[in-house]
Amino acid sequence: MDIIEQALVFVQHFFQQEFSGHDYFHTLRVYNMATHLAIKEKADLQIVQLAALLHDVDDRKLSPQTHAEKSNARRFLAEHHVDEATISRICQIIGEISYAGTDSVIPATLEGKCAQDADRLDAIGAIGIARAFAYGGNHNRLMHHPQIPPKTDMGKEEYFRHESTTINHFYEKLFLLADMMNTPTAKQIALARHTYMKAYIAEFMDEWNGVK
Ligand code: ADP
Ligand code: NI
Repeated sequence: MDIIEQALVFVQHFFQQEFSGHDYFHTLRVYNMATHLAIKEKADLQIVQLAALLHDVDDRKLSPQTHAEKSNARRFLAEHHVDEATISRICQIIGEISYAGTDSVIPATLEGKCAQDADRLDAIGAIGIARAFAYGGNHNRLMHHPQIPPKTDMGKEEYFRHESTTINHFYEKLFLLADMMNTPTAKQIALARHTYMKAYIAEFMDEWNGVK
């Protein structure tokens, strides 16, 4: 087995008990999309693939105790004889990937841009809609409350603390992602997914308001 196949097995075990939208299949979709983007954008394929596969094993919510050091990703890479410079490159990409409101960063490298775009593409479109409602259910959130308005322009601290409805999450994050894509390949894919999500929310509101 090469290191990519071993990473696939590692994340499958790692996410076995995870049902909040960061499951193994999320990682697998991000890996597949990141591979597609890396080839199209001519980025270093193995760096992008390893960053995509390991991007959630030290997630702020799932593994707060290893988040800062990226200890889980580091340990996997070191155990598979990846050199320290490459481990640092991969950990930098993972550190730059997450959405953090207006404090989100633009990754410094093409490889980071491909990984971030792949992760964000999985938060929009049909899959993105399903993940948002799955997350809302998992966190006991209301789908919608007409008296709770969405809050945009949140910085990192506020965005991470903020609790809202799932419909508000579309306005607070998901509708903002299409414009934040880094690579031309991802921008094109995002546009179609964005349009689909907009139509879905319009339909949701029509039904909620009894128009349809
Ligand atoms: P990231 O991929 O940037 O680490 P998160 O951990 O914030 O993103 O989100 C994981 C998934 O859960 C995404 O699909 C995201 O849209 C969804 N999600 C996060 N926060 C909320 C929320 N407050 N309401 C509904 N869905 C959410
Ligand atoms: Ni992710």
